[in-house]
Amino acid sequence: MAIYLAPMQGVFNAHFRKVAAQHFSGIDKCFTSFITTHGEDVYPERAFRELSVETGIPTIPQVMGNHPERLLILCRKLQDSGAREINLNLGCPQGTATSRKMGSGMLPHPEMLDEILDNLFSHLSVNLSVKTRLGLYKTEEFEQIVPILNKYPLFEVIIHPRTGKQMYRDEADREAYKLYASQLKAPVVYNGDINHWYDPMALEGTVMIGRGFACNPFLAESIVARKPVFDKGRLEIFLEALLEEYSQAYTGGEKQILMKMKEFWEYLYLAFPETPKLAKTFKKCQNMKTYASIVQSLF
Ligand SMILES: Cc1cc2nc3c(=O)[nH]c(=O)nc-3n(C[C@H](O)[C@H](O)[C@H](O)COP(=O)(O)O)c2cc1C
Repeated sequence: MAIYLAPMQGVFNAHFRKVAAQHFSGIDKCFTSFITTHGEDVYPERAFRELSVETGIPTIPQVMGNHPERLLILCRKLQDSGAREINLNLGCPQGTATSRKMGSGMLPHPEMLDEILDNLFSHLSVNLSVKTRLGLYKTEEFEQIVPILNKYPLFEVIIHPRTGKQMYRDEADREAYKLYASQLKAPVVYNGDINHWYDPMALEGTVMIGRGFACNPFLAESIVARKPVFDKGRLEIFLEALLEEYSQAYTGGEKQILMKMKEFWEYLYLAFPETPKLAKTFKKCQNMKTYASIVQSLF
């Protein structure tokens, strides 16, 4: 049993993961947000910036693409730079990705996935895992995906049981997850809507948590302890450390740092149910002075 921190582009950046690992326990592994393939072999340094920050927790690079050779070039670079595992994104629901058959857009095209996995497994020695939804349009698409995944010695398969078209609507389909998980040869990890320590999925096996952690950074600790953990004082210290880290890491000035903190507060406001309209208050906040006074009023 283990707990993984989900990739969440924008919210869980490398600096966030580093400070979170210093202040909260329970997370065993985390993932970068997706690195997309480029036309050629040349990648700007910023493509790998996520990996240059030492977070203190094993960090798995995630890749997304639709072209076997380009994906191989990218994965080879990551393998050569010491990655112990590489995760392939088959879940991204954004139209910009799915229209190009990337992310969940690849799920209606099992033959494409087959070609990509064949190429990667033929040329790489690093562990390969996938993070997938169950389909682009309907969960039944996964019936064609299972035999493809079973052809390869995948390190693990992380499943978020929604379709791409669903985005984050409705509930994650746990029954469909159980059905397909039982058909897969690789170890399977559940992801989707785990918001409470007593979630049966979290108590039964390895899970990945995303928005639940952003709303309550004590979630992994609570799952491990099997009881609610919440310490306002520790949360305040974490927020101070995160602000300090962002101030050191980002050179775009006050606006950029404020934007980064506000991205996190889009979720964290839920930890303060007694404060009405907090999400709106943060949204309206335009400078660090106002930000500091809002935070001070909460603690
Ligand atoms: C803002 C945001 C950014 C995300 N970025 C990524 C990403 O880069 N790669 C990925 O595989 N999933 C990404 N996801 C999906 C999450 O990893 C996760 O699968 C999803 O949020 C469901 O899990 P949860 O209910 O625990 O949040 C993102 C989700 C959100 C809300």
